[in-house]
Amino acid sequence: MRRLGRAALLLVLSATTCAVADVGDFTPAELSRIAAHGPWPLSWTPDPGNRVSGNAAAIRLGRDLFFEPRLSANRRVACASCHDPAKGFQDGRITARGLVTGTRNTPGLLNVRQQRWFGWDGGHDNLWSASLRPILDAKEMGGSAARAARVLRSRTALDCHYRQAFGKPPAAGDPELLVNIAKAIAAWQETLISPPSPFDEFRDALTRGDTRAAAAYPAAAQRGLRLFLGRGQCATCHAGPLFTNGEFGDIGIPFFIQPEGVDPGRQGGIKRLLANFYNLLGAHNDDATRNNATATRHLRPEHRNFGEFKVPSLRNLTLTAPYMHNGSLATLREVARHYSELDEDRLHADGERILKPLKLSPQEVDDLVAFLESLSPSKALPAPHAPPTVDACHAP
Ligand code: HEC
Ligand code: HEC
Repeated sequence: MRRLGRAALLLVLSATTCAVADVGDFTPAELSRIAAHGPWPLSWTPDPGNRVSGNAAAIRLGRDLFFEPRLSANRRVACASCHDPAKGFQDGRITARGLVTGTRNTPGLLNVRQQRWFGWDGGHDNLWSASLRPILDAKEMGGSAARAARVLRSRTALDCHYRQAFGKPPAAGDPELLVNIAKAIAAWQETLISPPSPFDEFRDALTRGDTRAAAAYPAAAQRGLRLFLGRGQCATCHAGPLFTNGEFGDIGIPFFIQPEGVDPGRQGGIKRLLANFYNLLGAHNDDATRNNATATRHLRPEHRNFGEFKVPSLRNLTLTAPYMHNGSLATLREVARHYSELDEDRLHADGERILKPLKLSPQEVDDLVAFLESLSPSKALPAPHAPPTVDACHAP
């Protein structure tokens, strides 16, 4: 009887050691590559190009205006109409409503502060000009400085937070008002940061050598992670804590748009950016040193940029289906199959040489999907709270 007890105990012990040993299977090289995808969240720094970045009154104003349909010509469209907080700040549609945006999938806005270029084609080099575009665009909100001034005057809290952040509003019709409003909306968007995911917990546990905590991460996700770092070469483009290198690429997603035409992607984005009055080379960049404009200053549209789109972050994917610049892939399984069956003829001449059809087995597809899902927070996101009103400003 006593013997049996000992044997059972040994069995339990070896089972535990086994599970732990599985996690320890990663090579030192793999461990350092895993560590490079964290820590999360990244530390927050203010945007030097936006003087109200981090300013409490501006954040509150920006939050109120993000949900404000009266900024639009028909008084029905707010930023939140397409960037729905319950869906990771996108709309779940294949492509957005509206003619201009109607060829592109609405990106989520979580962690948007960490991006370098904005829009699928990088047509903006800063968050406030990317926020100004939809207000002015006749196909999206069709707003104007006069309309924005009326909205501010209509509610004491809006007017009061504006004055706290920027001082007295400029004379009627001055475009400075819209730029300031866009800077306030940007300041609020900068506060949208996703909580840690199961992958982050695993990564942190491995980094501090806590194999027991690391063993909570599902085996399928671990195998998917190995594939992601190894044979898949995914981390070459989906690098670092945000799972993007912040640049552009072509992975063979068709760039034809209906009824006829093409989306030139990054090539068109560079042209738009350089022609944009509100880019970082312009007068509205609040960084007196202009150090934040170096990348923009060196941009030139090149032939190879044709059909390239931004390498998206892979965080929060379970909230943001469908995928790709044109929303053409409905599920993460379809994404995995895309990389598995990749049509090399679709990658244009200057295409990405590292991409090869991966020919994944059904089990490998499952593993890759399990890993990608583990990059989203396990708990539902809290509804975005209204930041407190500031000092003497009281609602409404
Ligand atoms: C009609 C739907 C719609 C509305 C309304 C809308 N957006 Fe967007 N938004 C989009 C689409 C589509 C894109 C992608 C555009 C592109 O690739 O050029 C986008 C892109 C963005 C981006 C770039 C994100 C990134 O990851 O590159 C930001 C920031 C943004 N919108 C903020 C706003 C703000 C702020 C408002 C309100 C002032 C707003 N949007 C209103 C559909 C919309
Ligand atoms: C050569 C760079 C590159 C490599 C390597 C790469 N990707 Fe991508 N990935 C991109 C680009 C660029 C896009 C957007 C393409 C588009 O919309 O046309 C993208 C899009 C995605 C998306 C859609 C995200 C969204 O929000 O729409 C997922 C998921 C994804 N990649 C996962 C992977 C996985 C898994 C691998 C490895 C098997 C991988 N990627 C390898 C560049 C790359």
